[in-house]
Amino acid sequence: MKVGVLGAGTMGAGIAQVAAQNGHKVVLVDLNSGILENARTQLRKIMDRLVEKGRITGEEAENTITNVTYSEDIHDFKDCGIIIEAIIEDLEIKSQAFKQIEQITTNCILASNTSSLSIASIGASVENPAMVIGVHFFNPAPLMKLVEIIPAVQTSEETLNQTKSLIDSWKKTTVVCKDTPGFIVNRVARPFYGEALRIYEEGIADFATIDWAMTEVGGFRMGPFTLMDYIGNDVNYTVTETVFKAFYYDPRYKPSFTQKRHSEAGYLGRKSGRGYYFYGDDAVNAEPSKDLLLGEQIFERILVMLINEAVDAVFLNIASAKEIDLAMTNGVNYPKGLLKWANELGLDHVLNKLQAMFDEYGEDRYRPSPLLRRMVAKGEIFNVS
Ligand code: NAI
Repeated sequence: MKVGVLGAGTMGAGIAQVAAQNGHKVVLVDLNSGILENARTQLRKIMDRLVEKGRITGEEAENTITNVTYSEDIHDFKDCGIIIEAIIEDLEIKSQAFKQIEQITTNCILASNTSSLSIASIGASVENPAMVIGVHFFNPAPLMKLVEIIPAVQTSEETLNQTKSLIDSWKKTTVVCKDTPGFIVNRVARPFYGEALRIYEEGIADFATIDWAMTEVGGFRMGPFTLMDYIGNDVNYTVTETVFKAFYYDPRYKPSFTQKRHSEAGYLGRKSGRGYYFYGDDAVNAEPSKDLLLGEQIFERILVMLINEAVDAVFLNIASAKEIDLAMTNGVNYPKGLLKWANELGLDHVLNKLQAMFDEYGEDRYRPSPLLRRMVAKGEIFNVS
C-alpha cells in the first residue's frame, strides 16, 4: 500500500521514515520546499548513521531512501491507501487539507497525528468521515514504540481494523483509545508535571529535590522539571491548558502559575538557556537535598496521583488497564505500568493516600476515582497481563 504523509516537519518526516523502512512507497508532501529538502537530507544522514552502526545494511538504507518521494503538490497522493497528516495543529487548516485530499483519493484512509484536536471534529470536515481516524505517534517517531489509535464516533470498524493492522506491521505497539482530550498518554501523565509543580508551590521542596525524588527514589528516567525544560515550558503549558479547557475546567488538570510565569518570562527550558534550571557551559544549579524520607513522600504523592488518573481512564473506558500500562511504558518510558504499580502497592494503600490528601486539602483535584473505591471494596486487582 502506498502511504502519503502530509507535513514534512518533525513528526511527518519521522512517520515517513517508519513507513519507508517497512517497505512502503511513501509520498511526503509539504507546502514548504525548504522543509522537504531538509527532510530528504536528514533521512539520508539517519540511514548513513544506521549503516555505520551496523543496524541496517546498505541495501536496506538505499531501499528506504528510494521509497520516499517528495512533493509540494497534494495531487501526488492520488493512489495512496492511507494519508497520515502531520501539519500545523489548527482545526481549520487540517479540515481544509482533509477536504482537498478526499477529492483526490479513492477509498483512502485519512489519518491525523493530532495531539489535541478531536478526531470527530476533523472527521466532520469530510464527506466520508467513516474513513477518518487518529494515529498519534510520539517524538521521535522512528524510535518511540507507541502509537495511539483513535477511532472517532464516525469511524468505521473496517477503517479501525485496517489502520491498526498496518501500524502493527510497522512493529509499533498500538493501543486503541477513545476520542477524548489527551487520548491516553497526554491525559494520564498530567500529574507528573502538575503535582510536581504543586509540591514546589507549597514550598515542600525545590526543583532539584523533586527531580531527585522521582529519578533516584522513584526510578523515572527524568525528573518532571528536567523533562519540562526539555519539552519547553511554553509547549508543556499549552498542552496542560488545552487539556484543562477540553475537560470543561476539571480542577484535576488545572495549569500552574509557576509554569505560566516561567513561560511568560522566556524561561522556556533548554532551548532558551534557562528554564527551571540554567543551561550552558558555566551554568550553576542548586543541588537536591537528598533527604530520603522527603524524597519518598514526594515520589509517593506524585505516583498516587498518576495512578488515580490511570484508574479513572479505565473507569471511563478510555482504554483497557493493559493498554494504559503499555501506553505509559512505551509512550513516555515510565519504569512500570501505573496499574501494575497500583497492584503492587496495594489498591487500598493508594486509596488511603488519595483520601488523606482529599481530606487535608478539600480540593476536587485529589478525589479518588470511583473505580478505585469499588475495587478496594471488592478486593480486586487490575488485570494487566
Ligand atoms: P512541525 O511544525 O515540525 O511540522 C509541520 C509541517 O507542516 C511544516 O513543515 C509545515 O510547512 C507543514 N504544513 C503546514 N501546513 C501545511 C499544509 N496545509 N499543507 C502541507 N504542509 C503544511 O510540526 P510537528 O511538531 O511535526 O507537528 C505536526 C503535528 O503532529 C501536529 O498536529 C502536532 O500536534 C502533532 N504531534 C507533534 C508531536 C511533537 O512532539 N512535535 C508529537 C505528536 C503529535
